[in-house]
Amino acid sequence: MDSFELNKIAGGLIGAVLLAMVIGKVSGMVVHPVPPAKPVFAAVEEAAAPAAAGGAAPAALEPVSPLLAQANAANGQAAFNKKCATCHTANQGGANKVGPNLFGVVAGKKAHLDNFTYSKALTEKGGNWEYEDMNAFIAKPAAFIKGTKMAFAGVGSVQERADIIAWLRTQHPSPPPLPQ
Ligand code: HEC
Repeated sequence: MDSFELNKIAGGLIGAVLLAMVIGKVSGMVVHPVPPAKPVFAAVEEAAAPAAAGGAAPAALEPVSPLLAQANAANGQAAFNKKCATCHTANQGGANKVGPNLFGVVAGKKAHLDNFTYSKALTEKGGNWEYEDMNAFIAKPAAFIKGTKMAFAGVGSVQERADIIAWLRTQHPSPPPLPQ
């Protein structure tokens, strides 16, 4: 190999590196305009929000109604004991703790006890504790009733919410019918 040939090879290499750099720069320029996609998403979310605010529950929440008939009340009681019982009893005549006794609360009116001091937010929410209202409240109390004093993050699993509600339904003088 003479030096002329070596020069050609070196030249070729340098050319390739330069080309790679140019391509990198250019594609950087081409890719750059893409980020505005984010604000577009935000705009879409904002547009969707008013529709969700109109309904009783956030649009994305999975309903418990289809699960209730097959829900496991024993698991629900165990979950209640773990997650709710620090603040609630649910047996007939049970004491109010940080939260009200929940006997008969399913399908009952919101703020169902006279001897518990509820937040203004819950008192003014209105309506009964229908299954899907209960679902939304247990999933994320502060989202369903802004200003509630139930300081609880929520139960993320729809199956667990169904189990809890299925058990709470049995803590009732006459358990309301399951949804069809
Ligand atoms: C940190 C304490 C705390 C925990 C934990 C808690 N709650 Fe509550 N709960 C409260 C308080 C306080 C209220 C009253 C809220 C208000 O007045 O805004 C309440 C209200 C309620 C109500 C409405 C009662 C009515 O008469 O309208 C239901 C139903 C309820 N809780 C269910 C549950 C369930 C089910 C769990 C477990 C998954 C749970 N809570 C966990 C404190 C708690």
